[in-house]
Amino acid sequence: MLTILQKLKREIQILRDVLYYRLIFDHTSEQTVVEQFHKLYFDSHVFGKAWTSSSWMGVPVYKCPTDLWTYQELIYGIKPDVIIETGTLLGGSAYYLASLCDLVGNGRVITVDVDSAEESVSRARSAATKVRPVHPRLTYLRGSSTSKEVLLQVKNLIQDSDKVLVVLDSDHRKTHVLDELRAYAPLVSIGSYLIVEDTNINGHPILSEFGPGPMEAVAEFLMTNKNFVVDRSRERHFLTFNPGGYLRRDK
Ligand SMILES: C[S@@+](CC[C@H](N)C(=O)[O-])C[C@H]1O[C@@H](n2cnc3c(N)ncnc32)[C@H](O)[C@@H]1O
Repeated sequence: MLTILQKLKREIQILRDVLYYRLIFDHTSEQTVVEQFHKLYFDSHVFGKAWTSSSWMGVPVYKCPTDLWTYQELIYGIKPDVIIETGTLLGGSAYYLASLCDLVGNGRVITVDVDSAEESVSRARSAATKVRPVHPRLTYLRGSSTSKEVLLQVKNLIQDSDKVLVVLDSDHRKTHVLDELRAYAPLVSIGSYLIVEDTNINGHPILSEFGPGPMEAVAEFLMTNKNFVVDRSRERHFLTFNPGGYLRRDK
């Protein structure tokens, strides 16, 4: 039990830390630091560092660790029955999601890729000894995420009562992401999330030459779909490859 004096001392310490933080980082300089670190973190892949050399239990995963942490927070909170991922590549993110399902004791993962494991390995940015691992909670589908065949297979694997979370991480061009958003949004359960990966490209703040991508697709999608809101609280770890990409389904 804290005495009144101890409580007062603690409050003063918190106030001092807040003041100190704001003196060092006003809002603009905070954004500058985060943006510079974002560019550093992303661009350092040319030296084989950061996201292209990260792995989950031996399987390469091309995501930012702070986003993976956010995934953990989301999955603990939602405890989805089904997680759909478009864009398997080497399977690291799907394996990570399946491991989180193990930890919360619920859920399975359906992951879709247009390429085979062999094709993905041949295009990988890093050496991969373990790819697309077998896991009891993990189902791999092959084909384009927006094809009728794949959508039918995905829907056949879901029950009406399932709580569904969707991650879009395949072809990042705007037209494809927009098609995916329209195809997969209806599958997302109310209270759950539609996560659009790599909204940071096309100059937000990296790869400014990319052309319209996920960020632009989200903007167009939200103009007509009022069931989703951008949940900025999911960006609280500062560095995210998905700015404006955590969409929560509210209705
Ligand atoms: C960014 S990588 C996925 C990274 C992976 N989720 C991870 O975090 O490690 C994109 C993947 O999307 C796949 N892809 C591209 N176009 C696709 C499409 N139309 N349908 C399904 N997958 C596609 C590519 O073959 C590639 O493996």
